[in-house]
Amino acid sequence: MRICSEADRPVLDDDLVIWGDNAVALGRLPAAAFDLIYLDPPFNTGRPQARRTLSVKADSGGDRNGFGGRRYRSRLLQSLSYEDGFGDYLGFLEPRLVRARELLAPHGTLYFHIDYREAHYCKLLLDEIFGRDAFLNEIIWSYDYGGKPRRRWPPKHDTILAYVRKPGAHHFDCDAVEREPYMAPGLVGPEKTARGKRPTDVWFHTIVPTSGREKTGYPTQKPEGVLRRLVAASSRPDGWCLDPFAGSGTLGAVCRNLSRRFVLIDSNPAAIEVMRKRLTLGPRSLHHGTVAETRGGR
Ligand SMILES: C[S@@+](CC[C@H](N)C(=O)[O-])C[C@H]1O[C@@H](n2cnc3c(N)ncnc32)[C@H](O)[C@@H]1O
Repeated sequence: MRICSEADRPVLDDDLVIWGDNAVALGRLPAAAFDLIYLDPPFNTGRPQARRTLSVKADSGGDRNGFGGRRYRSRLLQSLSYEDGFGDYLGFLEPRLVRARELLAPHGTLYFHIDYREAHYCKLLLDEIFGRDAFLNEIIWSYDYGGKPRRRWPPKHDTILAYVRKPGAHHFDCDAVEREPYMAPGLVGPEKTARGKRPTDVWFHTIVPTSGREKTGYPTQKPEGVLRRLVAASSRPDGWCLDPFAGSGTLGAVCRNLSRRFVLIDSNPAAIEVMRKRLTLGPRSLHHGTVAETRGGR
């Protein structure tokens, strides 16, 4: 894996992490080269996204309350953040999406990850750029975590919009996707129950656990399990995948495990550092006793 800057004109001979504005970096990548492009931009929440990772140790004079009235002392291990407010959100996205479409191979697919605030505007923009006939799916990723307001239905899903470069010519290998348990196994026979079912366009999947192998401490990190489905279905072994808003490098981690090649771009130096650690050292376990705190919220 190589790390380079937006000013370079990279050749696709090694996995790449590019530091810089994706508006510039996308312009320097070769056209029609990618099986899959996954975009997970800031969602325009209007607040910076921040996450602090603390180590906690039992200490009767500590600064935090814990289970059973015990006291703990915390120490800040890292604090990561990125900006998430745009005056003209669609104006920011449009040139990047236009270029992303050019970078897709004729059999390629683009996945755009967003939430309820902007999903409807983004779908209209994507229809305009790709054409309505290039729309493939609206995937709903449902999770259950965090605070629940009492005056409306708690919003607990993200939307992933899929568009293909050339309608009808896209690669899609439904057999490469891990199956999941039937919701009502009693309604199908034991053979089907044992095999599981192919996922639909509604996915129930937990967020990245706050302590676990996958967690990097980067704000709004997406779970590998969600991206694994996209990569398995819409890219070929050894095919190239691109993430212009890479954050902690989840797409790269998934590509590694599924033998795909990757290009990851991010303008935040802290993200580049997280990716460097995650993708050159491999999956990392956090020390027992670390906790993550999210600020900004979605
Ligand atoms: C929602 S996060 C991506 C999280 C990622 N999917 C993960 O699993 O960790 C969005 C990322 O976009 C980056 N970003 C925002 N504007 C950018 C730009 N113009 N060029 C490159 N990266 C940008 C931010 O630094 C942030 O890391």
